Amino acid sequence: MLKRRDFLRATLVTAGALVVPACGDGPETINPLDDERELADGSEYFPQSVASGDPRPGSVVLWTRVQDGAADLDLEVEVATDAGFAQRVALDAGQAKVKALARHDHCVKVKVRGLAAGTVYYYRFIYVKGGTSYVSRVGRTKTAPAEEADVKVRFAYVSCQDYVGRYYNTYLALAQEELDFFVHLGDYIYETDGDPSFQSTTGRRVVFTDLAGSISLGDGDGAYHAARSLDNYRELYRTYRSDANLQKVHESFPMIATWDDHEFSNDCFGATATYFDGRQDETDADRRKAANQAWFEYQPVDYGDVELDPDAALPDEFHIYRDFVFGRHVHLVMTDLRSYRPDHLIPEDAFPGRVALDQPKLVAELGEVPAVALPYVDVETYGDGIYAPVLTGAAETVGYDPAEVTGNISVAFINEIVAAANEGLPEDTQIPLIDAAEAGLERGIAYVDFGKINAYGMIGSRYFTAKDTFDIYAAIRYKETQGASEAMMGAEQEAWFLDTMEGSKATWKVWGNEFCLVQLAVDLSPYSLPAQFKRSFYTTTDAWDGFRNKRDELLERLVGLGGVVAITGDVHAFYAGTPGPSGDPTKKIVELVGGAVSSASFREILTSQVSSDPTLRGLPGAAALALSIDTLLTSPETKINPHLAHANSNAHGYVVVEASGQELVADMRSIKATEAQTDYSGRIGDLKISSKRFRTLPGESELYADDGGAWKRWDPTTQAWV
Ligand SMILES: [Fe+2]
Repeated sequence: MLKRRDFLRATLVTAGALVVPACGDGPETINPLDDERELADGSEYFPQSVASGDPRPGSVVLWTRVQDGAADLDLEVEVATDAGFAQRVALDAGQAKVKALARHDHCVKVKVRGLAAGTVYYYRFIYVKGGTSYVSRVGRTKTAPAEEADVKVRFAYVSCQDYVGRYYNTYLALAQEELDFFVHLGDYIYETDGDPSFQSTTGRRVVFTDLAGSISLGDGDGAYHAARSLDNYRELYRTYRSDANLQKVHESFPMIATWDDHEFSNDCFGATATYFDGRQDETDADRRKAANQAWFEYQPVDYGDVELDPDAALPDEFHIYRDFVFGRHVHLVMTDLRSYRPDHLIPEDAFPGRVALDQPKLVAELGEVPAVALPYVDVETYGDGIYAPVLTGAAETVGYDPAEVTGNISVAFINEIVAAANEGLPEDTQIPLIDAAEAGLERGIAYVDFGKINAYGMIGSRYFTAKDTFDIYAAIRYKETQGASEAMMGAEQEAWFLDTMEGSKATWKVWGNEFCLVQLAVDLSPYSLPAQFKRSFYTTTDAWDGFRNKRDELLERLVGLGGVVAITGDVHAFYAGTPGPSGDPTKKIVELVGGAVSSASFREILTSQVSSDPTLRGLPGAAALALSIDTLLTSPETKINPHLAHANSNAHGYVVVEASGQELVADMRSIKATEAQTDYSGRIGDLKISSKRFRTLPGESELYADDGGAWKRWDPTTQAWV
């Protein structure tokens, strides 16, 4: 039981008056009074504990959720400059007493204003029931330093915290750090309760109470659910936030969060999901709204109506991109790369045989037919139309719509279908294959040439898309649509982003960026694989590699600013590099990619893709290639990703950044990927954490790595540390 001072007297002192420091020395504090009220442990009423977020020089957002029946509940808020709450901050009445509304799942957010800059504060919530005052745990938070302050800023960043069968050892370690704040780059929740393609089937679980409101996916042993209803999404936050290590981190530091895809749906764009790969329209505005509302209720983020005003309707759209200034040296610019982006460039439901760029188009756009273009024919007229019925006949077995068998179709695709149809037939009844070398055949790029294997599928669309053909197609589409094909941020956010970055006076312009800028392609041509695999592929075109023309355009604007550092999540791997517009290795920014908190590592996902895909499974050497992904990505022989300097695709953890007027140092603190399924709570001493440090200096965009105490510089031209 704790002593506390008279809440009523405190609010009377300050009723109606927002206490703002007159000359920047901080708010008034209330002297200890002779309050005899006892405080009881309120753990059962505050099952998600407390959190704070979006620190600014004079304010911070405080969060909690109270759980006790269905009615709206009254809460009191206390803020102090000491952990014992002897020096309390005088809050105005609206901030000291708040309502936890049933219609917001009893989540409460309070933006406390009038605070001193660069100052640690403690806060707690009190719930009075039956004459007893139940108190939450005490949270610690810190306001941002004043804009003109010449101070070192120390923060961490994280992403991707899959809860299913996995443990937050990363947060166990992070809670031990001394930080001003931490950044969450998305995938704070995963919307599924056990997607076998990347989630565990053993260990702790997510269970949807409103199963009828969820989406049923997979079948048989692989059946699982995805959140759809508001209750589903809220339950995810409640479940994830029940983790003691995550709670400890929230109780220790303010968070600045953006979202990536899984706060709504895997590989989403706007309100559209991608579970069915184009077999059905997955646009669901109600689902997106539910996901956004739960995020808004549960995250201590500051925009619009942070206090969940009982009279205010939630906005239809959530503009979550925003920026933060931490003294003279750090300007953190957080983007939203999921809400406004267009669909993936290669549609998941593209018929593989269909020609996407025909010969006249290629000649018109490029002035020639590129070497990667391959022969095609008009399936209705070529060979007196004998191929069309074969393709139509095979449609059901191969899995495409027979109505697609029209117009220009890839010769290689036709021949594969014909060869399969000929199997077992007497030679004189077989249909002849088309001679691809036949004179006069036009050449173009079909969807199969992007690596598209199936009529409805992500391979060749959002994953493992062939690089050479994709580059040609993306450039033509970009030109044709005046950039709309890759408008990742949408026009309004993009203009704000560039203005903010270009207008920033901070030493470090830190971009909180959801997914990799640095190219992550693999060149498989040196390996003994079937011909169609002996080429270069983007590992994913859901991220910036699939929006490469827009990326170049943005980077072209950023490279000249100096001190631009992208901090990145999403890929479940630690990478460091110097992305820049294509073609000129001297123009660059610095990017530091942090591994997942707990989600399956990039290497684990690749190896499981190979073992579960029927085509890849049978491919000799494919499993070994997936295991050596870091060698493939950084290979100095293929020089496929000249901007990628460091790769560790099989670890979890976080990155700590220390930024001053002299340097920015990032420490990638990693834990072996296999440890995520073991809970190290209570025995952190047994947890092995490795450190890999990088540095960059003001006024240049060079990346240095700590090599046994000496800083070595990355040279993208020679692909070596020098
Ligand atoms: Fe993730």
